[in-house]
Amino acid sequence: MSRTVLITGATGTVSTALINAMEGADLDLRALVREESRADGPRSAEVFVGDLDDARSLPPAFEGVQDVWLLTPNGPRAPEHNMNAVWAARQAGVERVVRLSAVGAAHDAPNRSGRLHALSDRETERCGMRWTILRPHWFMQNLLNEAGDISATGTFSLNMASARIGMIDVRDIAECAARVLLDDPDRHHGETYTLTGPRSLTFDEVAGRLSLTLGRSITYLPVSDDAKRKTLLGHGVPGWIVDMLEEYAQAYASAWGDFTTDTVADLLGRPPRDIADFVRDHATAFGSTDD
Ligand SMILES: NC(=O)c1ccc[n+]([C@@H]2O[C@H](COP(=O)([O-])OP(=O)(O)OC[C@H]3O[C@@H](n4cnc5c(N)ncnc54)[C@H](OP(=O)(O)O)[C@@H]3O)[C@@H](O)[C@H]2O)c1
Repeated sequence: MSRTVLITGATGTVSTALINAMEGADLDLRALVREESRADGPRSAEVFVGDLDDARSLPPAFEGVQDVWLLTPNGPRAPEHNMNAVWAARQAGVERVVRLSAVGAAHDAPNRSGRLHALSDRETERCGMRWTILRPHWFMQNLLNEAGDISATGTFSLNMASARIGMIDVRDIAECAARVLLDDPDRHHGETYTLTGPRSLTFDEVAGRLSLTLGRSITYLPVSDDAKRKTLLGHGVPGWIVDMLEEYAQAYASAWGDFTTDTVADLLGRPPRDIADFVRDHATAFGSTDD
């Protein structure tokens, strides 16, 4: 009998890629969304409405599920979201939780997101179900936030100084998650996988790759924390998120993210996507007019 897999965060970056990665697999997919109207597109998933803020809204989505993909959005309530989902899963007799955490999650991480993820990681490890935790590095897809500037001005501005980061393409995170979810529940039980791309890169190197692929000069402009803060707040990004991003930027600028692992290759049997693959596949978003 097919297993039923519930995907949380189903409209977001990682979970959308995961639903794509599971397309055609022999399982029944469910998508948890806050608003039914946001669950658009040609999807193979059955849609359930529920809100991780509201424990009472969750039981119907978890009933009859064997596997939960648990993604909590960034914010101060992330541990509460994790707790609500884990409890709903336990009550429903779910067998396995596969949780998206973050690179460097630890009680002494230099960023609040890492410390919040550590709380949920601990809870998941003791949840009484089988569990696997994925800790991905900085997403290459974060560069899409700079696509407007890159298209319009040929520059992008980050407060990352000369940081080197083992950044990863979200499609590889999704394929690793799909691998874990499609394997037998015992296979990855109790494992925490730190997922990175193949190389640790500076943003000058990213700019170089963008220039090569787009056929015009793209320049990385390092800016101060205050300048970046002003820009993000000006775009309506909530203060808590701006603080969180600044903590990550400071950590990365001090070489906190300068590493890679072999875990994606071990799980997928192929190397992770390189920045060249990411830029080529998103060239249109960065303003390429070539097909
Ligand atoms: N960006 C990075 O470089 C990076 C690196 C490592 C780890 N991470 C981790 O990745 C996670 C974010 O993943 P993402 O980028 O895929 O997220 P995302 O694109 O921001 O999507 C967040 C998803 O969560 C849903 N959501 C928000 N509030 C919810 C609630 N109260 N109840 C139920 N669903 C809710 C959103 O649904 P709606 O459509 O309803 O808004 C959306 O589907 C975070 O845990 C972050 O720490 C990020």
